[in-house]
Amino acid sequence: KKTLHDLDLKGKKVFCRVDFNVPMKNGEVRDDTRIKAALPTINYLVEQGAIVILASHLGRPKGEVVEELRLDPIANRLSDLIGKEVVKTDAVYGSEVNEAVSNITDGDILLIENVRFEAGEEKNDAQLAQSFADMADVYVNDAFGAAHRAHASTTGVAEKLPAAAGFLMEKEINVLGKALADPERPFTAIIGGAKVKDKINVIDNLLDKVDNLIIGGGLAYTFIKAKGYEIGNSLLEEDKIDLAKEFMQKAQEKGVNLVLPVDAIVADDFSETANTKIVDIEEIPADWEALDIGPKTRDKFTQIIEASKLIIWNGPMGVFEYNAFAGGTKAVAEALANTNGYTVIGGGDSAAAVEKFGFAEEMDHVSTGGGASLEFMEGKVLPGVQALNDK
Ligand code: 3PG
Repeated sequence: KKTLHDLDLKGKKVFCRVDFNVPMKNGEVRDDTRIKAALPTINYLVEQGAIVILASHLGRPKGEVVEELRLDPIANRLSDLIGKEVVKTDAVYGSEVNEAVSNITDGDILLIENVRFEAGEEKNDAQLAQSFADMADVYVNDAFGAAHRAHASTTGVAEKLPAAAGFLMEKEINVLGKALADPERPFTAIIGGAKVKDKINVIDNLLDKVDNLIIGGGLAYTFIKAKGYEIGNSLLEEDKIDLAKEFMQKAQEKGVNLVLPVDAIVADDFSETANTKIVDIEEIPADWEALDIGPKTRDKFTQIIEASKLIIWNGPMGVFEYNAFAGGTKAVAEALANTNGYTVIGGGDSAAAVEKFGFAEEMDHVSTGGGASLEFMEGKVLPGVQALNDK
């Protein structure tokens, strides 16, 4: 696979796919982590004298123009971060874009409109991919966060131009790839989140690799139920109880220490102001639901994290959006911040949590991918990465 350093970029038009799908609020960028993460690549392209054509999606406009999903606020934020004008077009391709491209010169930056305004983007339409290719001499993909999508701007265009991974893409693949292929041990994975359904493949794959598999969050209660305990009103996926049993069996066969919560904070209602109490896991009362891990569980998870050389984390331990149930997720984030082991945070909610609690700087790697890092940890080859590998 080629890297940016392999390409001659001076005076070349570079179509660079980035993931600027950032959280917005009132027409402003609320969190610019993903924009900042793309700066090393963008700066390098500028320094090398490339004509930089950036492309991204924002949200899910499904092939239609949605005014709130235009990329103008993102162009402005990028311009502020980079200290340089960023030309923004209102079209994704066509005469307006061609003219804008012909009006800029070496080291200039242009951002085309939200690629998902075109229905062909998500269909990986060959004509749209050709329109992207026609704009440029070279394709660079730095959108790790969108690498699990086989779309016109992530895979289609890669087939039509000399192509390389950007620095962010390279770093994400190297860090996550090494963690899974050649882990330092003890290797611990922490899996949280609401549903077993969303984590089946990642749990299955990690059971072949880790020494400890910690399960917290809503999905833990299907496992607790599978062990034969009553879980009150806690989240339960009835149809996944057998699967949970299989996972526990597989852990035993593989010599993996599968760790479940030993206590919980239970509430009499799913709300910030519910009555709460701490109970041992085998004593969850009927009509109460577990919304966070309890203090004994926090200590237990922390000890395992402290004794690990490599820890990857995906998914919160409780309903951390509510302060009353944020303590478990915070305790795990804190343990990761304090450990000497190498810490990898899968994107999405876990990345949001370390950011919220102020520990992002203490982590060794916070992935910019949500779905992409999850699918990577499932052992899948991401189509956006595959398209670069095929070159
Ligand atoms: C993400 O935020 O995970 C990526 O930008 C992909 O977005 P999508 O799930 O809408 O394809």
